[in-house]
Amino acid sequence: MHQSRAPLVDSSLALLAKGYAWLPDRRRRTAHPVVRARLMGRHTVALHGPEAVRFFSDERHVERRTALPGPVLSTLFGHGAVHTLDGEPHRVRKQLFLSLLTGAEAVAGLERRVTAAWDEAVASWPGRPSVVLFDEAGTVLTRGVCHWAGIPLDDAGPVARDLVALVDGVATPGPRHWRARRARDRREAWLGRMVEDVRAGAATAPAGSALDVVARHRDADGRLLDPHTAAVELLNVIRPTVAVCWFVAYAGHALHRGPGIKKRLAESDDAAYAVAFAHELRRFYPFAPFLGGRAVTDLAWRGEPIPAGALVLLDLYGQNHDPELWDEPYRFDPHRFLKRPPGRDELVPQGGGDRAAGHRCPGEDVTIALLRSLGPRLARLEYRVPEQDLRIPLNRVPSRVRSGMVIESVRVPA
Ligand code: HEM
Repeated sequence: MHQSRAPLVDSSLALLAKGYAWLPDRRRRTAHPVVRARLMGRHTVALHGPEAVRFFSDERHVERRTALPGPVLSTLFGHGAVHTLDGEPHRVRKQLFLSLLTGAEAVAGLERRVTAAWDEAVASWPGRPSVVLFDEAGTVLTRGVCHWAGIPLDDAGPVARDLVALVDGVATPGPRHWRARRARDRREAWLGRMVEDVRAGAATAPAGSALDVVARHRDADGRLLDPHTAAVELLNVIRPTVAVCWFVAYAGHALHRGPGIKKRLAESDDAAYAVAFAHELRRFYPFAPFLGGRAVTDLAWRGEPIPAGALVLLDLYGQNHDPELWDEPYRFDPHRFLKRPPGRDELVPQGGGDRAAGHRCPGEDVTIALLRSLGPRLARLEYRVPEQDLRIPLNRVPSRVRSGMVIESVRVPA
């Protein structure tokens, strides 16, 4: 029997209370191929699995424009962001990101800036009583990405804190949310002024840098981006790059729990293993829980009706831990990616489908490149992991290692 009605009881509070575990728990308890719920009063249908990825990514099925809640736009993405566009306007704006972030040269350029910032920072760690990996990585990534993007920076610390706050405040109604909104106001004003200065000739941006390309970008209507939207999209380049600090702290956690993995990453120059480690970090640890869009028309998925206007969710965290796709999904094991590279729509921490045609993250190559470089660098350091709170609460979105991953007595081997 197929269901077609949403339950009467709203699950918004259950989602807030359970976080990443909410959808996978609901799925385990249903005999149906979808999870049906009510969120913020709206009929919601959640899907998962590689075929669902393709169904969800098809613009004829699901649109994004009307689906993202205001609080998410006011913190994480920004109003008018590429995430909220569909059709031709989306394709033209997406091309801006793809031109900046894909291709071997673009990726290597950013990787070089970030690894240089990392090596410089690490040289000072042996003199310090302790280092909080999450915070240090945030500052290093901010320095690297702003340098690469042509954005002048006096002091990386406050910018890093604001960019981290944008991500950290996305899914909570409390003080973290308001901190994120203030950070967004500050950083949009800062970058909007910079774009205006570049256009007026009062400042220069290195040719081909993100600042230069965004300042000159023309949308599908042939117009330059207004300074606010230009700032929003510049933030959509630097903010998620800095968010890689979540995975750097997770890398510290994985190396602590798996000394054999640390040894192998440190001692071999095995590039394939470093990439496999990066994939496993992105699969195993919690970051984006699910994606949301709106059914464009009356749809059916595996015989289950999805009425026009329903909220459609794609369960990323659930899919990345689905025992039907992954052997022992709750075991951290980079080897699984040495045996076989992930299928396009199997490993979905950064969305799925075709990245040019759909909304899949254009920063996936950059993320993998940064983790493949920083993972072995971290593994080669010698340090102690003091007593600390290493829990990663699944009811906090986004989660993080509670302590930030503290290391002590750092030594940089010659
Ligand atoms: C989109 C995750 C890194 C830029 C997305 C999406 C997810 C995601 C889940 C949504 C996909 C969809 O809606 O179908 C992540 C994670 C990252 C990361 C977990 C690692 C920390 C990056 C980086 C950049 C970036 C490094 C840029 C330098 C973007 C942009 C979009 C996006 C611009 C919007 C694409 C669109 O709407 O077409 N990302 N991302 N991300 N990401 Fe990432």
